Amino acid sequence: MRRGGKDESGLATDFPAITVRREAPVDAEATRKSFNEMSEMIVLDRLTKRFGALTAVDAVTMRVAKGEVLGFLGPNGAGKTTTMRMIAGFFEPTSGSAAVCGFDVVHAPIEVKRRIGYLPEGAPLYGDMRCDAFLEFAASIRGFSGAERRRRIDRVVEMVELGEVLARSIETLSKGFKRRVALAQALLHDPDVLILDEPTDGLDPNQKFHVREMIKAMAPTKAIVVSTHILEEVEAVCTRAAIIARGRLVADGTADSLLARLPHHNHIVVGVPQAEAPQAAALLRTLAAEDVAAAGGDVDGVATFSIAVDAIDGGLPAVAHHLKASGVTIERLYLERGRLDDVFRNLTLGADGEARP
Ligand SMILES: Nc1ncnc2c1ncn2[C@@H]1O[C@H](COP(=O)(O)OP(=O)(O)OP(=O)(O)O)[C@@H](O)[C@H]1O
Ligand SMILES: [Mg+2]
Repeated sequence: MRRGGKDESGLATDFPAITVRREAPVDAEATRKSFNEMSEMIVLDRLTKRFGALTAVDAVTMRVAKGEVLGFLGPNGAGKTTTMRMIAGFFEPTSGSAAVCGFDVVHAPIEVKRRIGYLPEGAPLYGDMRCDAFLEFAASIRGFSGAERRRRIDRVVEMVELGEVLARSIETLSKGFKRRVALAQALLHDPDVLILDEPTDGLDPNQKFHVREMIKAMAPTKAIVVSTHILEEVEAVCTRAAIIARGRLVADGTADSLLARLPHHNHIVVGVPQAEAPQAAALLRTLAAEDVAAAGGDVDGVATFSIAVDAIDGGLPAVAHHLKASGVTIERLYLERGRLDDVFRNLTLGADGEARP
């Protein structure tokens, strides 16, 4: 069976689904496990990949349901691409398993490829092909012909706005357009599962926005996994985020549940002129059920305090009201949610998590 990488002719083989089966044919339906369409579109069970001494993916267990867009995050070399390549059937797992719509990626690779659209990392396309010829080729491999093939190509060309470059050879396209051609081929068969490895990498801001909107529009009827280094993208399009570091899953949850791990999540931040700090501190102590200490020190003559919102009866409006009523000048007042970047750093910095080459 051909796997990912380059074949002797130098063609990138993450793309075509030309599969030469050498092993005895397996009755794919017979290997299909019963699966819950709503909750188990993708099921990874202790999925592991070793390259010699390196464990690139280390016992990752995870489920993705229909309607979910899972943001797959992690430092360089964490194992995102390797995991995605295993789900898409381009790397065989060393141990553990991955299933797509109940089909095991090793035992029923053709059934899996039928249901999956895969956007590989980078843009390993057939550079000397014209864009339209490539899409026709990709659609033919998917088994479409005649009017059906035309209709499918027209649909994806419109979705990713490729009309103006159809007659150009792929190698002459800019990075962003190459990426869009790759995305178009992943969508041709309108698959139930989308595995998108850094889909917005190299796109200009307008195209980033466009692709994010597209992912959101497709989300209700599919299970989608998106790897990204752009953490704002997670809050913009993902319903959930999983963080992987050195091959191991270190967090999995909604953006809110990840932010809740931060010590300053949902803290009210109050900034008052330094001269009024003692008065503000005394007042805040009467309102808060916890000890109030000055937080940010003195920056530009402003003293800041940080108090968990749960510790104050009435929350932020109560703080505003009482400070105002006692004549304290409010320089700033806001609810701190924290940033996913901080969660990411906390979970991936240090000996166990940092980037690998
Ligand atoms: N074919 C391979 N042979 C040997 N090692 C590999 C191979 N593919 C990946 N690796 C190694 O596996 C580890 C995980 O790589 P992977 O590409 O999955 O990381 P990633 O999370 O996608 O990183 P990035 O954010 O840079 O894309 C890295 O240390 C990488 O060098
Ligand atoms: Mg990668």
